[in-house]
Amino acid sequence: LDTDGALVVGLLGCGVVGSGVADRLLHGFPVCSTPVRLAYVLVRDLSRPRSPTSVHSHLTTLVDQVLNDPKVDVIVECIGGLEPAARYVEAALRRGVPVISANKALIAERGERLEAVARQYRTTLKYEAAVGGAIPVLRMLRHLASADEILAVGGVINSTTNHVLSQMEDGLSMNEAVRAAQSVGYAEADPISDLDGIDAAQKLTILVALAFGTWLPWNSIARCGIRQVSVDDIAAARRLGTRVKLVASARREAGNIAATVGPTNVPLNHPFAAPRDAENAFLIATRHAGSIVIAGSGAGREATAAAIMGDLHDVLRSATLTSSKETIHA
Ligand code: HSE
Repeated sequence: LDTDGALVVGLLGCGVVGSGVADRLLHGFPVCSTPVRLAYVLVRDLSRPRSPTSVHSHLTTLVDQVLNDPKVDVIVECIGGLEPAARYVEAALRRGVPVISANKALIAERGERLEAVARQYRTTLKYEAAVGGAIPVLRMLRHLASADEILAVGGVINSTTNHVLSQMEDGLSMNEAVRAAQSVGYAEADPISDLDGIDAAQKLTILVALAFGTWLPWNSIARCGIRQVSVDDIAAARRLGTRVKLVASARREAGNIAATVGPTNVPLNHPFAAPRDAENAFLIATRHAGSIVIAGSGAGREATAAAIMGDLHDVLRSATLTSSKETIHA
């Protein structure tokens, strides 16, 4: 903590999610009543206009300045994509600095390794924002997996495709609907990742890791996106009393994990038919607690920043617990 007791944050990236985090931090968001101070925001281009404008005095293009400043208590990674995010996150963990990441591509690809590095350097890696936006689904999975046996996990877990399918139900063409999803900041830099089910497969890898303790390579998941779904398919689904949704699901089957992502005709009374636009819905089936459904806002600046704030809270709480334990044992 800083000399005034503030938690000092180094933020990597200032796109849709990063700027949402900066906004929350610059508006005096306290965590567990501890003030939080935004020290640096790493960007590639200093001259680009940013919102909030007050973020400008925190911008830097020098990653070493952010990663090597001993005053920084926690790194929040909102760059997205595999590299250079993977390098930066691993460097921070190796310095013993806790990292919060919103990056499902990174966690799906390197989560197992980065978790091991975090353990080795006795620090923390948190990534609630990588799956389900504001919905605390990873937290819930950890909780259920520790106390029960998870039999299956799945859901409508990609906001862009859900937004597109919802807009197509309202009469838009796929191209118009994709442009609409991009303009509201749900789509990945390359929307193909959403439309082809890559984003959903990466998120499913993370869900599977927490549910079943196995890091499945995301590109081994049987996957089909929504590019082949036509307005006629959507009309036909409606006539059958169903709705087309991109569903990701995984279950244990005879010692293996069966995982798929694909467009599915969902009956209207099923929880997966309910999410509209950027909403996501998750269903977790457990041996003892039965089925649990959780739904809410799955993407966008505010929703994703909210998940990062929750992780900041956890990082601070675990730091407080560690230091109070150290005081007790001193
Ligand atoms: N592109 C992602 C989606 C963003 O549409 O769900 C949130 O993870």
